[in-house]
Amino acid sequence: MKIAMVGSGYVGLVSGACFADFGHEVVCIDKDESKIDRLRQGIMPIYEPGLDALVDSNVKAGRLSFTTDLAQGIAGAQAIFIAVGTPSRRGDGHADLSFVYAVAHEVGEALSNDAVIVTKSTVPVGTGDEVERILENSGTPYRYAVVSNPEFLREGAAIGDFKRPDRIVIGAEAEFGREVMQEVYRPLFLNRAPLLFTSRRSAEMIKYASNAFLAVKITFINEMADLCEKVGGDVQDVARGIGLDNRIGPKFLHAGPGYGGSCFPKDTLALLKTSEDYDSPVRIVEAVVKANDSRKRAMGRKVIDALGGAEQARGKRVAMLGLTFKPNTDDMRDSPAIAIAQALADGGVSVVAYDPEGMEAAAPLMPEVVMATDPYAAITGADAVVIVTEWDEFRALDLKRLKTIANSNVIVDLRNIYDPQDMRAAGFAYVSVGRP
Ligand code: UDX
Repeated sequence: MKIAMVGSGYVGLVSGACFADFGHEVVCIDKDESKIDRLRQGIMPIYEPGLDALVDSNVKAGRLSFTTDLAQGIAGAQAIFIAVGTPSRRGDGHADLSFVYAVAHEVGEALSNDAVIVTKSTVPVGTGDEVERILENSGTPYRYAVVSNPEFLREGAAIGDFKRPDRIVIGAEAEFGREVMQEVYRPLFLNRAPLLFTSRRSAEMIKYASNAFLAVKITFINEMADLCEKVGGDVQDVARGIGLDNRIGPKFLHAGPGYGGSCFPKDTLALLKTSEDYDSPVRIVEAVVKANDSRKRAMGRKVIDALGGAEQARGKRVAMLGLTFKPNTDDMRDSPAIAIAQALADGGVSVVAYDPEGMEAAAPLMPEVVMATDPYAAITGADAVVIVTEWDEFRALDLKRLKTIANSNVIVDLRNIYDPQDMRAAGFAYVSVGRP
């Protein structure tokens, strides 16, 4: 079957390459000529483990191609995915749907066969209805159905998530839509991945409700970590103790500097906007958004405390290890590192940072930070080492070397990747999150 993927960003590219790997013929479409040129040369616009090899093998097999020409790209496709960006609109936090609607218009004009139009971008409830209206107004003579098929990919693990999903959600009103989507996902369906058919609005809700629930879970354990610090508990034991209850589950209970990334911050805000529009408050998510925002800055203050308080900290220098919002990505969107660096700069603390993949994206976002070529260059002469992102290479730092090149023995581990007892035994003044 032929599939067209409109938008070759993170979601479009990963999904397109995986669909091609299932044996479908996939055309990835994007307006950005230089992006398409580079993709044709095998250069990925994003860092995602395994993606370049997956793209390469499917291009060579003749199943995956790239174009800037939408009409040509969608010709003959039975499923046309819309996977363009839905950034938070500046000012009001609403998801900006102008790219989605622009694609719907173009598809309506260019359609040359019957097709299912699938929204893959994260879109507020009711967007599918609007896409359908746009297609209706285009007067296309072909049969079409508008389907919602949200993605649940985690950056850094996206290919695995795509190929071994917990579930596939398909919101379709028409039988034609359900039939085509069943065909699209047949390889996974045969693998018994649960395919959940719902109404279109329910599918749109599921995406926001999932992300908001995960944000709640993270924020809950982060606040438990703060409380553990006060009462002398260990948040990792607490997480394990509650997570063994099947009703709670062990995942997404890792305390840290607060969630970031391209989804949770944006999607929680968009959900709140929808709740406002419909006058149906989601107070728990309101609280989560506030708590997470203030947590990022609070982590900067935690570092300042570890340096001996505001007065002592002024004029000191910190080595920041990890900048991206999580490991195995080069994505800096809403990364806690940005707010932490800002809080440190406000406190007169300078920062030298190192990140395996994120420094290029980070530099313009944190102009006051000096980027180092490796972790040890960042640590040399630093008055404290702060671990912000749990990249594997920071899990096995040469601690002896660290001690000789740093200016002090202070380590602030915001991801709890070291053992407090070991670190104290090794002579460090070690501070972590929610642990004694
Ligand atoms: C998320 C969802 O997991 C995915 O299903 C959705 O499609 C997009 O949003 P992603 O943003 O790539 O994926 O990253 P994820 O691994 O979920 O982590 C998000 C943030 O939460 C990161 O900043 C991470 O460090 C933080 N996090 C996650 C925690 O602090 N603790 C945890 O236990 C889990």
